[in-house]
Amino acid sequence: MLKVKNLKASIGEVEILKGIDLEIGDGELHAVMGPNGSGKSTLCHVLMGNTDYKNEGAVTLNGEDVLSIPQFDRAQKGIFQSFQYPVGLPGVTLREFIQSFLGDIDEAELIELSKRFNLDEFLDRDVNVDLSGGEKKRSELFQLSLMKPSLALLDEIDSGLDIDAIKSVATLINENRDENTSYILVTHYSRILKYLDVDKVHIVVNGKIVKSGSNELIEEVDSGGYTQYQEEN
Ligand SMILES: Nc1ncnc2c1ncn2[C@@H]1O[C@H](COP(=O)(O)OP(=O)(O)O)[C@@H](O)[C@H]1O
Ligand SMILES: [Mg+2]
Repeated sequence: MLKVKNLKASIGEVEILKGIDLEIGDGELHAVMGPNGSGKSTLCHVLMGNTDYKNEGAVTLNGEDVLSIPQFDRAQKGIFQSFQYPVGLPGVTLREFIQSFLGDIDEAELIELSKRFNLDEFLDRDVNVDLSGGEKKRSELFQLSLMKPSLALLDEIDSGLDIDAIKSVATLINENRDENTSYILVTHYSRILKYLDVDKVHIVVNGKIVKSGSNELIEEVDSGGYTQYQEEN
């Protein structure tokens, strides 16, 4: 269970997150939607422990404070971030990368798991180097499925993907869901959400959650865009 209370984040004098409150139960998937520049990626970065930001507020994961511990320790405690723009790791193969956090893994098992993500041919290629958008996102989800985090932050996992790739990414998320992992899925388009079982939707505008609700909000965003929320702020 993730609990976020009055979370603020700033860079220099500029406040980007202006008091976020959020509670995500075990196994739940919450969608965070909002216009460009509203602070969605910042929320993910701050939960993961990016040190560029100055923070206030409280964040606990399964009852333990995570806001005061560094990024590495947060990863150890089970926070996983998939990036909007996954970074390439030239010189590090996907197999080596997986071994770096899982230790030695049975070869047959690794190949079988990678096949589920259609990535068996990528095990001996460098992580995220010369991969298409969809392949990079599948690779992130493959890593997620192996790490089994308590909290997965998926930042625009649908960005730059065509409709078939969006469906396949959504299917992989669905197949991977269980009681042990809570998800924050950031998107500004409703499309991927139609393939997912969304427990709650939050609309972020200008560093604040301006509305939370069930998946009816997805329809509301689709028909009225984000300006309907911006006017109120
Ligand atoms: N490292 C940074 N330095 C300066 N400004 C930043 C930084 N990160 C984010 N911002 C600013 O914070 C705001 C929110 O950005 P971001 O969280 O990336 O929005 P979103 O993901 O919702 O599009 C933007 O105005 C952006 O320019
Ligand atoms: Mg973003």
